[in-house]
Amino acid sequence: MSSAYRAVTGHYLDDARPWQVDVEASSPDLYVLPVTAAVGAPGLRRELVHAWAGTQYTTIIAPSAYVASSASLAGGCIVAPHSVVSSFVRLGRHVVVNPASTIGHGTDIGDYVTISPGVHVAGRCVLGHGVFLGIGAVVSSGVSVGSGTILGAGAVLLTDAEPDSVYLGIPARRVRASEDWLRVI
Ligand SMILES: CC(C)(COP(=O)(O)OP(=O)(O)OC[C@H]1O[C@@H](n2cnc3c(N)ncnc32)[C@H](O)[C@@H]1OP(=O)(O)O)[C@@H](O)C(=O)NCCC(=O)NCCS
Repeated sequence: MSSAYRAVTGHYLDDARPWQVDVEASSPDLYVLPVTAAVGAPGLRRELVHAWAGTQYTTIIAPSAYVASSASLAGGCIVAPHSVVSSFVRLGRHVVVNPASTIGHGTDIGDYVTISPGVHVAGRCVLGHGVFLGIGAVVSSGVSVGSGTILGAGAVLLTDAEPDSVYLGIPARRVRASEDWLRVI
């Protein structure tokens, strides 16, 4: 990872880590560096990306991840170690695929989606912009999840989910509306 720059606050700056840049130093040089946003909550990630408008966002794929050659990834995505992005999957911008998660063939994923660790999304699913899938969640084959919806940790979603909602449990049920994209995990 030493080739990727990491923006950190002054508190975390370390001379032994030359790839760090100070997020609080408003140097114009920062805006020409290839960066990505690694914040887990979709709402906060979107906010940071908007705050850094004009920045070049790069996509990072861990060496131990498998990404099919037919998959397409837009800018600013992160595919973490031991995760699998299968054939003909499409990832929108700033999608985070956390460790040991799998995305089945032909699944379409919108911008700013967060796939938590150990999540399994079956084939031909559709995840709208800003969807958050909690740790260990499962989305069954061909299921669509509306934009901004949160699927709780360990939930198993068997049927389509409405937008801007929270779904929990097995099988997952809608428990309430979510006012905005998840900002805090
Ligand atoms: C879905 C979630 C966002 C809801 O958070 P919240 O709105 O703060 O919910 P609360 O913790 O206040 O819990 C509200 C109720 O839902 C229940 N609940 C919360 N999460 C649940 C889950 N995943 N499955 C089943 N029930 C759950 C709580 O037990 C509580 O029930 P009660 O009212 O009977 O006591 C959160 O619980 C969750 O699953 N987060 C995922 C975290 C994660 O995956 N992190 C990895 C990041 S990489």
